[in-house]
Amino acid sequence: MPKAGLVGSIALLAATVTGCGVLTTSTHAQDRVPSEPTMINYVDPARVHGLNVRTITEGDAADRHVQAAYPAIDDAPRLTEKLRKTVLGRLDHFNRVASADSDLPHREFNVDWQLAAVSDQVIGVRLRMGESAGAGWSESRTTVWYDRTDARVLDSAGLLKNGTALKDLALLVKTGLAGRRPEVNSSVIKAEAGFFDSMGFNSHGDLVVEFDDQQVGAASLGRVVVAVPAAEIERLLSATGMRAQRAAVKTADEPGSAVWKDFVAKADTAKPPAESSQTGSVDCAKAKCVALTYDDGPGPGTERLLDVLGRYRARATFFTVGANASAKPELLKRMMREGHLVGNHTWSHRDLTALTDSKVVDQLSRAQYVITQTIGQVPGLMRPPYGESDGRIAAIARTLGLSVVGWSVDAGDRHGGKTKDIADRAVAGAKPGAVILMHDMDDPTIKAAPEILRRLQEKGYTFVTVPELYGSHPMRPGETYDSGASGRSSSSEKPPGGPTALERTPTP
Ligand code: NI
Repeated sequence: MPKAGLVGSIALLAATVTGCGVLTTSTHAQDRVPSEPTMINYVDPARVHGLNVRTITEGDAADRHVQAAYPAIDDAPRLTEKLRKTVLGRLDHFNRVASADSDLPHREFNVDWQLAAVSDQVIGVRLRMGESAGAGWSESRTTVWYDRTDARVLDSAGLLKNGTALKDLALLVKTGLAGRRPEVNSSVIKAEAGFFDSMGFNSHGDLVVEFDDQQVGAASLGRVVVAVPAAEIERLLSATGMRAQRAAVKTADEPGSAVWKDFVAKADTAKPPAESSQTGSVDCAKAKCVALTYDDGPGPGTERLLDVLGRYRARATFFTVGANASAKPELLKRMMREGHLVGNHTWSHRDLTALTDSKVVDQLSRAQYVITQTIGQVPGLMRPPYGESDGRIAAIARTLGLSVVGWSVDAGDRHGGKTKDIADRAVAGAKPGAVILMHDMDDPTIKAAPEILRRLQEKGYTFVTVPELYGSHPMRPGETYDSGASGRSSSSEKPPGGPTALERTPTP
């Protein structure tokens, strides 16, 4: 039973934060003070050898957007499989709800992830699974644990010793919630693993227990979360739980969101703007130029794609997802070394037009931060996920120094497809100044690359990064570009704040 003083010491927060993970930088690795006690620890994924990001996409309708990412770790295949099944199960649920109510105006499913702890004994992965719910948005969270000492996958309840420990924890949490937030309906909480499926530790070793939206109260409450102090939780932990707690404290990488927000404020003067190391080597006023663009990575095929591009001396623009970029910094560095350009495709690939201004800024600036920290230059280009943009998004992009980049040719590879079809569409659509949309995620795209390069090279094309299409007319922040054919912005003929050309386009 809980001691009387314990309940009062439980920290409680109900907030509508978009994520409890914050970005990391090695220079702040010594900072062990949680920016708030209910943050589950964040670990830099680049620390983990053999980690790749897998992405699930589905459907291709303008009013329905699906993007789910989860980590795959080479030496923990059971963990990868559990994460995959968890995501697919949630996606299946979304599809059933979405098909049952086809009148929903905006349907989106999005999963992003963070590492909650990593050591040679344990790995914790937190999945944040969000979906549109009527006019709103609802998130569920699951933290899966993997004990490397015996290759076991555990739900969060596996952090606890046994059923008695779960009962003790449930009572602690219920009492704490009831006393602090009357609007939380703590009476629904039961000592069942399903209610405690997202638990991790903050960098002090306190157990952080979080609930799904609408699980213990109205959706407007947002994320309801409780932190149980380390000294009080230790008696309830299983052997894996103790390993997880040790790992969380040891691997704390938590600089606090203030770091990247402050960074964004200073970004324009802190680092040089990103440009290809081979900018100036081609004059697109004379040469026949096309810009190959690859979105959503770095993914499992990115390394092979870079090999192919290198063989053809072709350069491309990579619109990277921030969460993926943070897992594969060496690939971003290689892109820059080899004359490619890295752009911003947001932190977790949400449809920006469905987000509030502050969340749009978060999505862009978190990605901006991790890319800049990696390549030492500040990205000047962003591509909105699904091509969903409007005057408001463009205005925010302007404040962050980002030009908005669409495309003029869609190779239609977002959901895999046949290699030959991808190559045919890319080649058929190409003309001088074309911006060709592809994704460095699936095998068919990677396999199509040599054929696209060979056929376009035979037609006399040179492959450059997007800004090089515009040569002596620099791209401007907040302007929208989908083709370099006219040598200027496609939106410059439209009234400011009006719809952009991107709104008609299908999903990148
Ligand atoms: Ni995309």
